[in-house]
Amino acid sequence: MRKQIVAGNWKMNKIFSEGIELINEIKQKAGTVNQTLLVVAPPFILTTEAVKMLKDTNIGVATQNCSNKPEGAFTGEVSAQMVKSVGANFVILGHSERRAYYHETDELINEKIKISLENNLVPIVCCGEVLKERENNEHFQVVAKQIKGMFDSISSDDFKQVILAYEPVWAIGTGKTATPEQAQEMHQFIRETIKNSYGSEIASNLSILYGGSCKPGNAKELFANPDVDGGLIGGASLKADDFIAIANSF
Ligand code: 13P
Repeated sequence: MRKQIVAGNWKMNKIFSEGIELINEIKQKAGTVNQTLLVVAPPFILTTEAVKMLKDTNIGVATQNCSNKPEGAFTGEVSAQMVKSVGANFVILGHSERRAYYHETDELINEKIKISLENNLVPIVCCGEVLKERENNEHFQVVAKQIKGMFDSISSDDFKQVILAYEPVWAIGTGKTATPEQAQEMHQFIRETIKNSYGSEIASNLSILYGGSCKPGNAKELFANPDVDGGLIGGASLKADDFIAIANSF
């Protein structure tokens, strides 16, 4: 059976003291969450502290990015090995904001996925179309192309570690959510695409998260779909009550 997962992508929010406060609050309130893996992805400056604070809990810690290079003269970068060395176990890769503002391509994301897996990090890999692509009815094609590029020459054994997130770009931070039908049909399509490359067992064990204006008010109807295994939450993950309410929406 695949895992139910709710992950909070804090993006570039919270200074150190605010982050500590939010982690504490999530930790205190997470007791009500059953059978759902919680993951928090604060900014890099909080990774070490988050791992320490959440040590005896079952809340995982992710970073929001890592370098495609192993080490060396790459000013401003943080390697997968460094992320692992402080005890984080997950890394968000291929987020649409990194594609849009930092020119990340499927090829670069592919390198990042590989280096994360080499360092025993679980990549939470994002895909999703922009509004124009949906309007042109190209969304399936776009997502299929992203998946093909991002997972190029990644073995079945490695792919088993991966978590996917479908994040339609037009729904991110806009308050517009994909309808449960739109989410389900894309998640089903993604699972089918993975099945074609990696077989039915791997596809059926793959957790596919929905992201894009997921809130306590709409999480239930999204998570009720058979191929939606949880959420990658932006804005609503910055409030402990909302984050926990979403995690309790299965
Ligand atoms: P919002 O939940 O703020 O729309 O962000 C979604 C997202 O990008 C998570 O990675």
